[in-house]
Amino acid sequence: MRLTSTLERSMEKVEDAGGLDRLATPLAGAVRSLASRSRTLTDLLHGVPLGHPAHPAIVLLPVGSFASATILDFVPGTGPAVPVLVTTGLASTVPAAAAGLVDWAELHPQQQRVGLVHATSNVVGATFYGLSLYARGRRRWGAARLYSLAGFSALMVGGYLGGHLSYRQSAGANHAEDVPHLVPGGWNDLCAIDDLPDGRPVEKHIGETSVMVVRRGKAIDVLSDKCSHLSGPLHEGRLSEEDGVACITCPWHGSTFALSDGRVVSGPATVKQHAFDVRVSSGVVQVRLPGASGDA
Ligand code: FES
Repeated sequence: MRLTSTLERSMEKVEDAGGLDRLATPLAGAVRSLASRSRTLTDLLHGVPLGHPAHPAIVLLPVGSFASATILDFVPGTGPAVPVLVTTGLASTVPAAAAGLVDWAELHPQQQRVGLVHATSNVVGATFYGLSLYARGRRRWGAARLYSLAGFSALMVGGYLGGHLSYRQSAGANHAEDVPHLVPGGWNDLCAIDDLPDGRPVEKHIGETSVMVVRRGKAIDVLSDKCSHLSGPLHEGRLSEEDGVACITCPWHGSTFALSDGRVVSGPATVKQHAFDVRVSSGVVQVRLPGASGDA
């Protein structure tokens, strides 16, 4: 369809607009620097306790409030509710933007460019709603309605860009979701135990699927290799210990996972890595992923 291809071309232009990096790169650096001051708060904003990004849930409040205000503007007798809704929308924009910013700062450049335009549209939308509130205070009802409509239009553009970011560019999606569908059920031979260096992560394969293997003395931990955040190669990551827990840190954006069960120790990843059961039989390391296709 003509509209579809026009929209696709427009979005490809935004993705390829390297000029946006002049703003996006230093801004992302500043956000990361600020976020590094409190890992707990940053992980909350990422949505680590939820198991998926918090931003889509938080934006319901500002978007719902703003949209309701715009609709009620045209319903007789509902006038007093509108300033309350606009004020609620403006106040809740702050946590929604904070959650979006910390996620955005840890994305690929093409995603950051789209995210920057998405954020700009939303800021423009919120600004129009602020102007509509100001106009209401001055009893300029016609101007207030127009500002409100302009704000809603900008939010719609922002929503479209957010959809592109999430569904087309897979920002915030679980990039390890396919692993249980690709790994055969039951025990799979992985490698000879003598092939594993001590204390260094290596990449091995089960069919087409990469896994990261860490041998520490007699202990062997195996996690899916593709980072759930944005597919970074965990076997190129750094081993560490966080509060007594042996971990691997992704080389791309620093997500840290427990070696024993793949849980997220710190974001930006919000989804755990798949952790394999491991046994050694006649010098061969064998692995099994609970819930893998074909597993009874
Ligand atoms: S790919 Fe982003 S933290 Fe791993």
